[in-house]
Amino acid sequence: MTRTALITGITGQDGAYLAQLLLSKGYRVHGLARRSSTADVNTMRLKWLGIENDVRIVDGNLTDLSGLSRTMRDVRPDEVYNLAAQSFVRSSWQQPILTGNVTGIGVTNVLEALRLEIPEARFYQASSSEMYGLIQEPVQSETTPFHPRSPYAVAKVYGHWITVNYRESFGLHASSGILFNHESPLRGIEFVTRKVTDAVARIKKGLARELRLGNIDAKRDWGHSRDYVRAMWLMLQQDQPDDYVVATGRTTTVRDMCRIAFEHVGLEMDDHLVIDPDLFRPAEVEILRGNPAKAKAKLGWEATISLEEMIREMVDADLARHSTARR
Ligand code: NAP
Ligand code: GDD
Repeated sequence: MTRTALITGITGQDGAYLAQLLLSKGYRVHGLARRSSTADVNTMRLKWLGIENDVRIVDGNLTDLSGLSRTMRDVRPDEVYNLAAQSFVRSSWQQPILTGNVTGIGVTNVLEALRLEIPEARFYQASSSEMYGLIQEPVQSETTPFHPRSPYAVAKVYGHWITVNYRESFGLHASSGILFNHESPLRGIEFVTRKVTDAVARIKKGLARELRLGNIDAKRDWGHSRDYVRAMWLMLQQDQPDDYVVATGRTTTVRDMCRIAFEHVGLEMDDHLVIDPDLFRPAEVEILRGNPAKAKAKLGWEATISLEEMIREMVDADLARHSTARR
């Protein structure tokens, strides 16, 4: 039997890689995408992976319960992956209410539509290591208490607990993946890794001279999106729903990540890096480091791509983009 999946946020980084993974496993893939006047740009990531004609895009928005219910009724997915969110932490101070409505309440909208229309379907929620915020333990696991530090993280804590609550209240097969930072050549340009690799490529090509960053002492546990979407799928193949940390277990400063990118093209980071106080955040998550032991033991999941390999892949992709882009 061909299985059917619905991915909210299919136009995002993870949505594109997850769609590719599910297609390779023979799934019929539907993706919820919000209507946009720039639909050609919106599907850029699916085009990059060469799968834009293999998925069916459904118009919808996480804030519109009636549309979500209709989609569940029409598509009748076996698996629902809720990846849609206002996902940029910095923007969440500028748009706290929108972030709460989409990243928080939006999860309840998807769960309600699922519960009312297809309660037998399996559900994945994209939870985040950002929920640990002001960390309560040096290495964070599924049992580490949360202390969110941004409106985004507060909304994600809500989304996480409503998922747990629907599992406990209604017996839904609802799982939550607490994913640590993961990147790729398809990462949005506003996030620090891609901002760095894009700038390094432009500097190398003579299109720019400097890279402006905020807090380069912050530390993150960075993995690759291709590895992390595999963990999402594995969670929904388990007999029992559960919550899992997905991480590499290694933490690195923004400064050292940046140095890897500059070294890859033979440039000296200190010749180009400028610290801009305007890019510091009102409250910072200083350090994250995850313990993926449960994912390894129960899902057989492990990260396979190192930070160095990933940053080099991202720099090469940005060099290629700037070779073809018009100046
Ligand atoms: P992303 O590239 O920013 O993608 C977000 C997706 O959500 C996009 O497809 C976006 O559509 C869609 N979206 C935003 N608002 C929406 C709305 N109101 N209705 C419907 N769709 C909406 O994020 P990502 O990196 O792929 O991350 C996927 C999920 O994992 C997110 O929930 C994120 O918060 C979470 N997460 C990410 C990481 C990470 O390091 N990447 C770590 C932990 C958790 P448009 O294309 O129209 O903008
Ligand atoms: N974006 C950005 N831009 N970040 C910078 C900059 C800059 O110019 N300079 C320093 N940083 C620091 C931030 O202050 C933060 O400590 C770190 O780099 C990482 O920032 P982002 O790449 O924007 O990611 P994030 O950690 O805030 O959030 C990402 O990971 C979360 C999981 O922990 C996002 O993908 C979230 O959606 C995700 O939940």
